[in-house]
Amino acid sequence: MNIAVVGTGYVGLVTGACFAEMGNTVTCVDVDSKKIEGLKQGKLPIYEPGLDNIVINNYNTGRLLFTTSLPDAMTQADMLFIAVGTPPGEDGSADLKYVLAVAKEIGQNLDRYSIIVDKSTVPVGTADKVAAIIQAELDARGVQIEFDVVSNPEFLKEGAAVDDFMSPDRIVVGTASARAQERMADLYAPFVRNHPRTLFMGVRDAEMTKYAANAMLATKISFMNEIANLCERLGVDVENVRLGIGSDQRIGFHFIYSGCGYGGSCFPKDVKALIQMANKIDFDPKLLNAVEARNNAQKHRLFEKIVESFGTDLTGKTFAVWGLAFKPGTDDMREAPSKVLIERLIQAGAKIKAYDPVAMKVARDEFPAKFFDEGSLALAEGQYEAAIDADALVLVTEWKPFRHPDFKALKRLLAQPIIFDGRNQYDPKQMKRDGFSYVGIGR
Ligand SMILES: NC(=O)c1ccc[n+]([C@@H]2O[C@H](COP(=O)([O-])OP(=O)(O)OC[C@H]3O[C@@H](n4cnc5c(N)ncnc54)[C@H](O)[C@@H]3O)[C@@H](O)[C@H]2O)c1
Repeated sequence: MNIAVVGTGYVGLVTGACFAEMGNTVTCVDVDSKKIEGLKQGKLPIYEPGLDNIVINNYNTGRLLFTTSLPDAMTQADMLFIAVGTPPGEDGSADLKYVLAVAKEIGQNLDRYSIIVDKSTVPVGTADKVAAIIQAELDARGVQIEFDVVSNPEFLKEGAAVDDFMSPDRIVVGTASARAQERMADLYAPFVRNHPRTLFMGVRDAEMTKYAANAMLATKISFMNEIANLCERLGVDVENVRLGIGSDQRIGFHFIYSGCGYGGSCFPKDVKALIQMANKIDFDPKLLNAVEARNNAQKHRLFEKIVESFGTDLTGKTFAVWGLAFKPGTDDMREAPSKVLIERLIQAGAKIKAYDPVAMKVARDEFPAKFFDEGSLALAEGQYEAAIDADALVLVTEWKPFRHPDFKALKRLLAQPIIFDGRNQYDPKQMKRDGFSYVGIGR
C-alpha cells in the first residue's frame, strides 16, 4: 500500500516506520524541515528503543521517504494518516489547529478517492470536522471526489512504541464505510496475524475509546497516589498494600504504583481534554476532576517532603536528581514531575545536579536558560557524579540503572546520606541498615 503519515513525532515516525517495515511504501511528512533533513541523514529526532534501525533500513531500501510537502506525498499515497500534535489549549481542550490545518491542505490537494485516518488523539466529533473541512475545500475547487475519514487512535507507549505498534493489544478502527473498513483491515492484517484483534466501531466510539483508555490508566495512578497519601498518615506501607491488592486478578499490578505523579504528553492532556469535552455539554466530570487534581498535587509531594526535612529555605543546599524524563525508556519531558520538583527546589534557593540516561539534551531546552547560566541547575555526566557532595539524592524516574545502585558508593559521595525515593524503588529496611535516611511515597 502507499501511505502518507503527516506529523513525524513519537506517533507518526513509529507508525510510518512500522508500516514500511511490513512492506508498504510510506512517506512521512512534517512541517519541521530540520526534522526531515535529519531523518534523511539517519538522525532520529526522538529516542525510542529499536526505532533507529527500522527507520534507517527502510529509508535505505526506499520504502520509507521523508518530505516537508504534503502535496508531494499525496501524489503517491491514498491512505493519509494524520499524526500531528493535539496539545492542550488554554482551557485544557485539545487544540485541533494542527489537525484541521492538515485537513485543509488535504482538501486543497485531493485528486482521487482516499482514506484520511485520524491517528492523533482527538475529541469526539473531530472526524466530522475533518470531513467538513475537506469537503469545503473540494466544494471551493468545484470538484467531486469521494473520501472517507476514519478514526484509528494509537495506543503505543513511549519507550516500547515499536513493540506496541508491531504487536498491538488491539487495533481500534472507527468508520461507517465498508470500503474504508476493508482497506484498514488489510493494512493491519500483518500486525494481528496470530491474534486477530481489530475492533471496528463507530467513528465517535473510536474517538472516545482513546480518551477512556488514558483516563482509566490515569485514574488508577491517581487512586493509588491517594491511597499512598492516606497510608503515610496512618502508618501503613503502601508497597505492601500494592502487593496485596495487585494480586487480586480483578485489579492486577499494572498502573497501581504510587509515586510523584504521572506526566508525559498524553495522560495530563487527555484527562484535561476529556474534562473539557464534558464541561462543554454541561456534564460535571467529578471523577476526572479528582484524578487531575490528585495528580497536580502529587507532583509537589517530593518537594514537600524535602521541605519537611530541610526547612523552607534551601539556600546553600544541593540536591542530586536522578531521572528527568517523565518515565523510563523515553527522552520525553512533557509534563514531567521532575520539572515541578526542580523548579520548586530552585525557587526555594537550592542548587540541582541532575542526571538522566537519555533526556539530557531535551532537558537543556525544557528548563529556563537562566537556571544553567546562574548555576542553579547543572547536568551531571553520570548518576554518581550527580551525587557528589549533594545534601540528598532524589529519585524521580525509575530508570533501570537507578533501581539497584551501588549504595556504598552513594554513601561515600553524598554529603548527607539521605534518599527521597519518588518511585518507591528501594527497601526502607535495607536503606536503614545501610545507614541512609530514607523517605518514600506512602510508606
Ligand atoms: N506520544 C505518545 O506516546 C502518543 C501515544 C498515543 C497517541 N498520541 C497522540 O498522537 C498525536 C501526536 O503525538 P506525538 O507525541 O507524536 O506528537 P509530536 O509533538 O511528537 O509530533 C507531532 C509532529 O507533527 C508535526 N506537525 C505539526 N503540524 C504539522 C503539519 N501541518 N504538517 C505536518 N506536520 C505537522 C510537528 O512538527 C511534529 O513533528 C497526539 O494527538 C497525541 O496525543 C501520542
